[in-house]
Amino acid sequence: MSTTPSADELREGVRRRYAESARVVTEGPGRRGCGSGSCCDGDTEVTFGEALYDAEQRGELPATAVLASLGCGNPVAVADLDEGETVLDLGSGGGIDVILSAKRVGETGLVYGLDMTDEMLALARRNAAEAGIRNAIFLKGVIEEIPLPADSVDVVISNCVINLSVNKPAVLTEIARVLKPGGRVGVSDVVAEDRLSTADRAERGNYVGCIAGALSRGEYEAGLEAAGLENVSVEFTHAVADGMHGAIIKAVKASEPELKGLPVIQPAAGAGCC
Ligand SMILES: C[S@@+](CC[C@H](N)C(=O)[O-])C[C@H]1O[C@@H](n2cnc3c(N)ncnc32)[C@H](O)[C@@H]1O
Repeated sequence: MSTTPSADELREGVRRRYAESARVVTEGPGRRGCGSGSCCDGDTEVTFGEALYDAEQRGELPATAVLASLGCGNPVAVADLDEGETVLDLGSGGGIDVILSAKRVGETGLVYGLDMTDEMLALARRNAAEAGIRNAIFLKGVIEEIPLPADSVDVVISNCVINLSVNKPAVLTEIARVLKPGGRVGVSDVVAEDRLSTADRAERGNYVGCIAGALSRGEYEAGLEAAGLENVSVEFTHAVADGMHGAIIKAVKASEPELKGLPVIQPAAGAGCC
């Protein structure tokens, strides 16, 4: 009799799968980190991985960062980064988007890569060192509990990771918490058409392969709005399975706290100050 895996079992399956991907790249020179069961399992030419980056971007990267690319988009191209910004990459894997972002924000900027898998963190740190990056910090942790203070990040990026989370509302709430007022989200992820039920999605691929755990477009939009983010958009870019797409997800955190409706407190007559 098959039983439904618990959230902890699902997360441990994801961690093991991506630890294996990192080992393949680290130990097998010239071998790609996808392969059976990972996000780019069954990869065609341009649905997952390095093909989603242009030749110029690939030229900026160490070979093992390119080989470890397991994303479903190119969030650095979406996020339109500026010098001096602080960026957080959720599920930074082999470090491809951290390295590209670090080059764009320059010496006055800072990029955090957050990942739960030791093997990926080790690979990413090596790749960043090889690329000469000094303005990146790799953190061990889970994206459901981001180990950074509130209002500390200008941009949150992520590439094909949120679909792997066992608690997506927590991830979206954490994104809203760590963003500075006016900060923005530029994420790539696998997203299902609204017509697909959870069972339909599970039929099209497994959980660790970035398919079964995907949100639908409506679920993504509602989740980001429930987390307090605004100007939410989910744009499909390329099909990855029947009714499932690589997508670009954007949102912003309001610049000013919402104070409408709160009573205005007038100072008492004659009250001094200072
Ligand atoms: C599909 S790979 C994508 C890696 C990278 N973003 C890229 O584009 O190559 C997923 C990565 O997310 C990490 N990951 C998955 N779920 C996570 C979670 N809940 N918290 C932190 N990291 C997670 C995995 O360890 C793995 O490195």
